[in-house]
Amino acid sequence: MAQPGGRLRLGVNIDHVATVRNARGGTTPDPMRAARLAEMAGADGITAHLREDRRHITDADIDALMGAISIPLNFEMAATAEMQAIALRHRPHAVCIVPERREERTTEGGLEVAREENRLAHFIAPLAEAGCRVSIFIAADRRQIEAAHRIGAPVIELHTGAYCDAHSEGRFADRDAELQRLGEMCAFAHDLGLEVHCGHGLTYETVKPIAAFPEVMELNIGHFLIGEAIFSGLDSAIRRMRALMDDARGEALGQGGA
Ligand code: PXP
Repeated sequence: MAQPGGRLRLGVNIDHVATVRNARGGTTPDPMRAARLAEMAGADGITAHLREDRRHITDADIDALMGAISIPLNFEMAATAEMQAIALRHRPHAVCIVPERREERTTEGGLEVAREENRLAHFIAPLAEAGCRVSIFIAADRRQIEAAHRIGAPVIELHTGAYCDAHSEGRFADRDAELQRLGEMCAFAHDLGLEVHCGHGLTYETVKPIAAFPEVMELNIGHFLIGEAIFSGLDSAIRRMRALMDDARGEALGQGGA
């Protein structure tokens, strides 16, 4: 298992480049161009969620991404037979299992693993056998972490949405409580032997405390970066996020940051 406090990886989620493209139904902006640019700007991986309704990323995007990038693809998907077949066909570096509801605007909560252990254990086994690193997207909840561990997932991604929402809504006591819970659950999961990732809703303002948790190995960030790219360009947005993450890691290790 990777050692805590090491270099934090950044996965750039390009779903919302496809959202803008699909608003007009044409070919621009091209998610593949965003993926290549993200790679050059210092992303360690590309994350893309093929939703059941194909509202942003399409099957053709996944086909193209598998051939277009040299950094790992983290393929986000719901635990359905259709998605499992697609993942097994492509064998991406990583598969992140997320909950999905048609009516939601984004992935609003973590996966309910504890109540579906048996089904999920059988669901992820062939993905792991095919060589995909399986990650489970869950709330920072001890019960869910223990269940993810029991089903044999090597990686969990903790949902940071509640922390980020509390920050943006100015509910700072709630934000601090969420942060404390996330920190405790990162340590708990790491002690169980799980690799810990975090993501959802992270911004320049909220990323540093999460990046400072030594057990976190990877952050996956999308919506804010794509939005920020409208103002400063994708390259600059990713580089700034990367620098904030590195600063937070340096400061947490007592090396001081820029
Ligand atoms: N991680 C997971 C598992 C997600 O489902 C998402 C959203 O698709 C993200 C990270 C990125 O969240 P955001 O787009 O809010 O940065």
